[in-house]
Amino acid sequence: MRVVFRSTFLSLALLAVFLLVGVAQAAEAPKGPVVIKADGAKMAPVTFPHAVHVDKVKVECAKCHHKDADNPKACKTCHDIKEVKDKAPKIQDAFHKVCQTCHKEQAEKGAKAPTKCNECHKK
Ligand code: HEC
Ligand code: HEC
Ligand code: HEC
Ligand code: HEC
Repeated sequence: MRVVFRSTFLSLALLAVFLLVGVAQAAEAPKGPVVIKADGAKMAPVTFPHAVHVDKVKVECAKCHHKDADNPKACKTCHDIKEVKDKAPKIQDAFHKVCQTCHKEQAEKGAKAPTKCNECHKK
């Protein structure tokens, strides 16, 4: 009896640990750079490094993942390339607002934040 009880307790404890780890992983930023290119985009894709922004510049997840910071999805899930969809601005306007606003401020202060088209849109 005692052994059975103990192993049940152990498996429940292990299950709890797995669940917690699972939740933590769901909210982790991708380790390597992500390449952003909407379907039908004319410009070269933009390579975005989370590490620089999250670890070095210390930007909060919710600053960019403003609707789903707990479990972020690609911006194009809601933002369309051609039209305003359910009030969500077009991809170009959404990205340029978030990325360029900060980069312009930071570049004025001397940071190496890209502000020219071909510094973000790279072949
Ligand atoms: C700080 C980085 C950054 C800079 C600087 C920047 N962009 Fe973008 N732009 C992006 C990101 C990120 C996207 C979303 C990527 C995508 O959808 O392919 C985007 C999307 C676009 C799009 C819509 C998608 C497409 O390719 O058709 C256009 C057009 C565009 N940018 C043009 C420009 C032009 C022109 C400039 C310079 C005047 C510029 N961008 C400067 C980051 C930047
Ligand atoms: C400076 C803006 C910014 C910050 C801060 C940021 N992200 Fe992201 N994240 C992005 C962009 C842009 C993408 C690519 C989205 C796309 O492909 O449309 C992305 C993609 C992701 C993805 C992949 C989504 C998918 O399914 O394609 C995950 C997961 C993610 N981010 C988690 C996080 C977490 C967790 C944090 C905070 C620790 C964080 N991000 C902070 C901008 C940011
Ligand atoms: C789950 C849907 C969803 C996702 C995912 C999403 N957005 Fe949005 N976004 C919206 C909606 C809806 C709006 C319209 C305004 C509002 O309701 O906040 C919006 C508005 C915006 C605005 C304009 C805010 C303003 O104050 O003018 C920006 C910029 C923006 N999104 C950037 C992004 C970026 C960058 C990503 C990806 C990192 C992203 N969004 C992911 C739904 C989404
Ligand atoms: C809150 C401010 C902030 C926001 C928002 C932000 N950035 Fe940045 N970004 C920076 C700063 C500061 C740097 C320079 C970091 C350094 O000192 O190396 C940088 C650097 C970069 C670099 C160069 C990375 C490298 O390896 O040198 C790229 C590419 C970039 N950002 C893309 C983006 C894109 C795309 C977005 C929007 C999805 C974005 N950033 C949003 C502040 C920001």
